[in-house]
Amino acid sequence: MTPTLEVHPAAAWADAVAAALTDRLRAWPRLRLCLPTGETPVSLYAALSASADAGLWSQATVVLLDDYVGLSADDPAAGGPRLRREIVDHVRPAVFIEIDQSGDLAAAARRHDEAARGLDLAIVGLGLNGHIGFNEPGSTADSATRVVDLHPRSREAAEGYGTEGAPERGITIGLARLLDARELWLLVTGVPKAEILRAALEGPETPDVPASYLRRHPSWRVMADDAAASLLGRADRWMTHRGDTVS
Ligand code: GLP
Repeated sequence: MTPTLEVHPAAAWADAVAAALTDRLRAWPRLRLCLPTGETPVSLYAALSASADAGLWSQATVVLLDDYVGLSADDPAAGGPRLRREIVDHVRPAVFIEIDQSGDLAAAARRHDEAARGLDLAIVGLGLNGHIGFNEPGSTADSATRVVDLHPRSREAAEGYGTEGAPERGITIGLARLLDARELWLLVTGVPKAEILRAALEGPETPDVPASYLRRHPSWRVMADDAAASLLGRADRWMTHRGDTVS
């Protein structure tokens, strides 16, 4: 399905996405949503943390999208603690579900798959290699929530997040579960993501670019800044909220 493409100037992007999410929470306080870590949502989480009315999140459930395997809680890249620091501890949802890695990892993935069942809203970022969560290149639309070997670019990204653990594996909500969510938002910012966003939206649907499978979702929204959207060559195909910035 053709997504709704929303393009905002970089300086306005975080506030615009925060306003959209605040609207969702006001309309449906018991929202069950998954959230990514990474650099893209940092400004969004800061905006949400600064602006959340008392109680706005008090009935919501937040599920962590993905995490590295085996990092200590004080590693700056560890997903659960990072999401707590950047948003959860500030907005205080009723429930926050991290990926509990105790015991058998396959069982941990199965538990997390259950936690991600029936999401109202899946919010995801886009990897430079086209991944969604840790659905790395090679993943297909029916990919389960699972333990994955990380792609070299994802390992590099982890180093950029300051890890000293050089993680080799991750656990991610699978594309199948994400495509089951009632609504899906893809967050993409910055010039480095422009080429892969174009591939995801305008290239062939392929396991080489797992984000290309998001097109199967009946209700998805791409929330980009103008830098990330700058290579979209067929902007007339998209419904835009700010058509002036997509030309
Ligand atoms: C990371 C995480 C994803 C994230 C994506 C994009 O490695 N696994 O949850 O959405 O890659 O990250 P960034 O926003 O830092 O580019």
